[in-house]
Amino acid sequence: MALTLKSGFTFDYDNLFGEGKVTQADLDSYKEDLAKAHEAMKVMRDSGIIKAHLSKDGTPEKVYFSKLPYITADNGKLNLNSPASIQRLHKFTEHLRNNIDAVVSLGIGGSFLGNKVLFDIFCGEFWNTKTKEERGGLPKIYFSGQNIDTRRTRDLINHLKAMAAVTESHENRKYKVCLICISKSGGTLDTMSNFMVMCDELKKCANIEVEIVAVTDPNMEKKTILKQLAVDNGWEQFAVPDGVGGRFSVFCEVGLVTAAAIGMDIELFLGGARDMDEACKNENLFENPAMLNAALKFAAYKKHGRNMEVMMPYGDYLKSLSEWYIQLLAESLGKQFDKDGKEVCYGRTPLVAVGTTDMHSQTQQHQEGMLDKVVQFIKVAKWADDYVIPNAFPSAKKLADISGVTMSEALEVARQSNADALSSNKRFNACFVLPELNEYHLGELMYLLAMSVAYEGELANVDAFNQPGVEAYKRIMGPKLQELKKSKGL
Ligand code: PA5
Repeated sequence: MALTLKSGFTFDYDNLFGEGKVTQADLDSYKEDLAKAHEAMKVMRDSGIIKAHLSKDGTPEKVYFSKLPYITADNGKLNLNSPASIQRLHKFTEHLRNNIDAVVSLGIGGSFLGNKVLFDIFCGEFWNTKTKEERGGLPKIYFSGQNIDTRRTRDLINHLKAMAAVTESHENRKYKVCLICISKSGGTLDTMSNFMVMCDELKKCANIEVEIVAVTDPNMEKKTILKQLAVDNGWEQFAVPDGVGGRFSVFCEVGLVTAAAIGMDIELFLGGARDMDEACKNENLFENPAMLNAALKFAAYKKHGRNMEVMMPYGDYLKSLSEWYIQLLAESLGKQFDKDGKEVCYGRTPLVAVGTTDMHSQTQQHQEGMLDKVVQFIKVAKWADDYVIPNAFPSAKKLADISGVTMSEALEVARQSNADALSSNKRFNACFVLPELNEYHLGELMYLLAMSVAYEGELANVDAFNQPGVEAYKRIMGPKLQELKKSKGL
C-alpha cells in the first residue's frame, strides 16, 4: 500500500498498516479526531490560529509555517516569503559569489539543523575542498554555534587564518569572511558565544575582512540584542518572522539564506513544499500524506506501544535530515501537559539512524529489541552518477557476486532486505520515496514532516508549536553563569 503523488513522491506504508499492524479499525476509532485535526489545519492555514497555542511569554501567537511555501506580496507583509524577499535572496547569492571567500553560518537548533540539511544534500562533504570554479564561484561554507566547543571553534578560526595567509601570499589581497549569525531570540548562549569569539579573533587579523549578516526577529519595537547590534552597526539583515518557530524555519529566510549561499534553487524547494501543502489539503485520509503519516504513527503509538521513531534515510548526505527531524518531532510532540492542562507526558522518542551504516550497529536492536519502534526509511529512487560495482578481482568469487549492479541498486537491496526482515518479526516500518534528490522533492519531504507533526499535535491534543521544556535548564543556566562570573571576580 502506498500513496503516490503526481510528482512521484511516495509514502509506502505497507509495513505499517494491515493485519498485525495498525488496522483500519484503529484508524476508524480516530475518525472524529482526524476530522477535527484536519479542520484545525484549515484554520491554521487561513488565520494562523492554533487552538491554545501560546508563545514563550504566555500570550497567544499565530502559526505561519504553512504560509511559507507561498511566495506572495501579502505574505511579505508578515516577513514571510514574497517576490521581493526572494529577489533579495538572489541578490545575496550574487553578492556572496562576487565578494566572499568563506561563509560561517552560526546558529543552533532550528537556526542550524535545516541549514545543515540543505548544505549536506546539495554541497556534500567535499564542497570546501573544491576550487572556486567547481563551486560555481560560490564561497566555502562552514557552520559554527551549534555547540560551545572551544577546540572546534579554535580549529575553525585557525583554518580561516590559514586560508587568509594563502590568499594574501598568492593573490596579495584580504580573505573575505561573511559571518551569518542566525538567532531568533538574538541572544542564545551557544550561537552568540561563538559569534563573539569569531568576530574578535578574525577582526584582529590584518589579512581578513569580516562582513556580518544578522538573521533575527525583525521586530523594531522590542529589538533582540542581535537586531540592535545589526541596526547600530549597519549589518545586512534577514528575518526570522513572527509565528515561525525554529524547527519550521527552513522554509523562511533562516534556511533560505543558506540556500542562497550555496546557489540552491529556492523557488523549486518552496514549490515542492507548496505542492505538498496542496496534497495535505485533501480531506481523504488515504490521499493526504501528512494526515496519513500522523494517523498511522499516532495509532502505532497509542494502540501498539510503538513510542519511538527511528528516522533512517539511506545515504550519507541524508543523515542531517534525520537530525533535523529529531528536533522537529522531539520539540513539537514531547509535552508533559495537553492543551487542557492535563498531565499526559506525550511524545514518541525520535532516534537518528542512517542506512546502510546503522544496519551494522542499531539494526540488531530494531530487529530483536523491544517492540516499541517504527522505523521510518527514506529512499532516493534514482541517484545521479551511479557507479556500477566492477568485477575488480575476478578470482574472489564472493566479490564477483556483488559486481555488475550499481551502488544505488545495492543500497536499495540492503534497505529492502532490512524492511523485509523487520516486517517478518512484527517490526513496524514505512518508507518515503523521493524520485530523486533535488530541491523539489526535498521541499516536499520536509514540508510533509512539518505538517505531519502539526496533525499529530492535534490528535494528541498537545501544542506542537511551543517548547516550554527547554526553558527549565535555561532558568538554571543564566544564574549559574552569573555565579561563575562573580566567583572569577568579573
Ligand atoms: O526550535 C527552536 O525554537 C530552538 O531549537 C531554537 O531554534 C534554538 O534554541 C535556537 O534559538 P535562537 O534561534 O533563538 O537562537
